[in-house]
Amino acid sequence: DKGNYKHFMAKEIHEQPEVLGHTLSQYVDYTQNKANVAGSEQLRFKDLSRLVITACGTAYLAGLVGKYWFEKYARLPVDIDIASEFRYRETPLSSADSALFISQSGETADTLASLRYCKSQGASIGAIVNVPESTIARESDVIFPTIAGPEVGVASTKAFTCQLAVLAALALQAGRERGTLTFEEEAKLVSELTELPTLTLKALSNEVEIQKLSQQLSKATNALYLGRNTSFPIALEGALKLKELSYIHAEGYAAGELKHGPIALIDENIPVVVIAPFDAIYEKTVSNMQEVAARGGRIILITDERGAAQCGTSPETVVVLPEMSDIVAPIVYALPVQMIAYHTAVFMGTDVDQPRNLAKSVTVE
Ligand code: F6R
Repeated sequence: DKGNYKHFMAKEIHEQPEVLGHTLSQYVDYTQNKANVAGSEQLRFKDLSRLVITACGTAYLAGLVGKYWFEKYARLPVDIDIASEFRYRETPLSSADSALFISQSGETADTLASLRYCKSQGASIGAIVNVPESTIARESDVIFPTIAGPEVGVASTKAFTCQLAVLAALALQAGRERGTLTFEEEAKLVSELTELPTLTLKALSNEVEIQKLSQQLSKATNALYLGRNTSFPIALEGALKLKELSYIHAEGYAAGELKHGPIALIDENIPVVVIAPFDAIYEKTVSNMQEVAARGGRIILITDERGAAQCGTSPETVVVLPEMSDIVAPIVYALPVQMIAYHTAVFMGTDVDQPRNLAKSVTVE
């Protein structure tokens, strides 16, 4: 049931404040401000020398954000790969390793094959899934369900942000178990996570403005998305969503990679979506944005008030989100990126919930 929405995707985008609240309440202890992930001991974070993360598509991009978090908060090295590469590259693994799989459906063929490979090598297996009765869930030693509810739109939205919420809690849990976070640091980060329902609700209030910029974007044939640090996977996600829904060719890049090739694409016809909360590396992203502006690129900047005040150029459009802490930023910034893809697709007249050539559950290799 789509309720009052035109598409399941719109409904699922708007459900995010609520389902993020449900998911978080499963993984954090609000009274003590601690991560509280049942079953995490199966992954043996304390003695682990690296964590292997494998997934496909949008779920892979959630894992990529997870890598930044596990490394920063738990000082745990992460090897992450897309499942269709991982399964064929003969990674050395042993019973000392733990592997984490991320899948909305829990049925993705390449992710499942990667899981079976890791299991055959003796690794401990954890999975973040949205369907707890799925094959990937059944074959794992421990599952961390996202409480997103059924996701009907082919493009993953609420499952993605809930995967991020679970990964954030897991990274903090790992940080505590590995002694890399003090109780005070953990408490501060957990209380920041509890802001997610409020922050994502505020992010949704930019929808009218996003609709306007999407109308412009729908005239483009190519688009670029740029970001650094945890905004880099969100740039990749923005580009993936735009191409799968609107069929406009889009690429995401780490902003620092611009000068290593993609800057050659910049002219006055190409929209460049820059994802840049005002954080410690904001200045670095701004200098990349100025390189784009100097070549006539049309900038759509997604930032906060301080970022908007200090961007130094005049972007064609600025989407202003509330100021927020680093840990919640990739989750909240995912929403404008989803809305841009959604509204652009609506302007293009494509089939938003059933884009051509795509299936909700990819059970073939
Ligand atoms: C993109 C999208 C896909 C899936 C991918 C993995 O919007 O939905 O990229 O993320 O096919 O699917 P699951 O998570 O079911 O393993």
